[in-house]
Amino acid sequence: MTNPLQQAEDANAELLTQRRDRWYPQVHIAARAGWINDPNGLCHFGDRYHVFFQHNPAGVVWGPMHWGHVWSRDLVHWNRAPIALAPSLPEDQDGVFSGSAVVTDDGTLAVLYTGHRVATTAGHDMVEQCQMLATSTDGMTFTKHGVVIESRGRADFRDPKVWRQDQQWHMVVAMSSPQRRGQVWHYSSDDLMHWDEGHLLFEDPDPNVYMVECPDLFRLGDKWVLLYGPMTTARPHGHVGRNGHNCGYVVGDWNGTQFTPLTDFTPMDWGHNFYAPQTMLAPDGRRLLLGWMGSFAHPLACQEDGWCGQLTVPRELRLDDDLRLHSSPIAEFSQLGRPGKDLGPITVEPGQPLTLHHGSNPVEVCLGIDLAASRAEQIGLRIHDNGSGRRTWVGYDDLSERVFVDLSTVSETSGGYRSARLTRPNNDSRDAATRTADELCLRVIIDRGSVEVFADDGRIVLSSFSFPVDSERSVALDTVSGCATLTSVRTRPLAPHWNEPDRG
Ligand code: FRU
Repeated sequence: MTNPLQQAEDANAELLTQRRDRWYPQVHIAARAGWINDPNGLCHFGDRYHVFFQHNPAGVVWGPMHWGHVWSRDLVHWNRAPIALAPSLPEDQDGVFSGSAVVTDDGTLAVLYTGHRVATTAGHDMVEQCQMLATSTDGMTFTKHGVVIESRGRADFRDPKVWRQDQQWHMVVAMSSPQRRGQVWHYSSDDLMHWDEGHLLFEDPDPNVYMVECPDLFRLGDKWVLLYGPMTTARPHGHVGRNGHNCGYVVGDWNGTQFTPLTDFTPMDWGHNFYAPQTMLAPDGRRLLLGWMGSFAHPLACQEDGWCGQLTVPRELRLDDDLRLHSSPIAEFSQLGRPGKDLGPITVEPGQPLTLHHGSNPVEVCLGIDLAASRAEQIGLRIHDNGSGRRTWVGYDDLSERVFVDLSTVSETSGGYRSARLTRPNNDSRDAATRTADELCLRVIIDRGSVEVFADDGRIVLSSFSFPVDSERSVALDTVSGCATLTSVRTRPLAPHWNEPDRG
């Protein structure tokens, strides 16, 4: 019998023959073919950065979870590696779910992940989730060591995130309580094999939240950030919680056993497709993050093309004095592609859009918008525009004072308008608030099928898929109802980040 890893590779090679590339990411991590969700096991090991991810190698929908794998020496150019983990033990027979990686003192790479099993007893399906360990000496092939924290007799107990602190291993892991409240638990260990009995670290105060997926607890400056994805029964309201899955953070203090929140929950990304982020500490002390761009709630057009889901570009995090999280593309990202050009300063009149880029290859555009001089109601970029009226409209709306991604002309299913408030006042505690500035810098990374928008020094981020109609496309600067005054308009063509083509 072929082993599960080889079976997965064979199924994936078959799916690759069907892949179409009109929207396939050039500067984002995605599977060669098939479905991906959460980034897993982010780490620096053996002079390489490793990124693993939830992966169904045999299909374009969520299915039996494996860990896909890519690596890079510089976080800019990426290489594919064989699938790292497949279901193979009774406890992970229905999925190798999300988890994290750490490097031990003896130079071994250890991954902690959730084993997922659906047991059928007396005609009822019972989900069992436990935490499991696997290790690797070369970062490529793994030996499984089985269960290290038993199932708690409840369906939702998953996504261990492990770190080293004060000579101990610490883990945060998500659990749904018997009362269906979303909780984060903390465990500690001396050797990654034996863990204490665990204790409740945090419960989302919102009683509608029944689970908090992919918790991550890490230090930024002298505070600690608890990042998670609340699963809620509440209906979306206002601009918050519009996606099937949303995530955000609480900032607090952590003394090694207790977490004391200092803020309310704040959404972390305001776009259509951002979930299950994970962070890692880079060797130089930077806190890096990758998130999943995808959807459990809507079909995505890329599923027609033999692939589904991508990760965000790596981002660096920082916390400001108001305890707001800022994320910006890592500095290394500027090495990708050719040096850009600046077309500014410039004034754009309504009805006279300025084309900045032709074709489907990725590009980064940075706009410096002079808010004091502009008279426009909206200023932005028409992205993936082919002149048919379908395009992604990204920019700043001066009426609502919000930065937006408007997909309403692009997609009937996962479309709609997402936005984040740039300025005060602000009555919604879950909404973001900040200073008013006279210049707004918008940095937009445009790939074949996605946009990522960074504004207000990374305090506002929107990550969304954007699947244009299948033909020529362009990016143009445009304005609605009034002139737009720009201090700078920089464009930088981006080169594909893969070191080897997927197909010869
Ligand atoms: C989040 C999540 C995790 C789980 C994984 C399964 O997207 O549901 O909680 O471990 O995906 O693929």
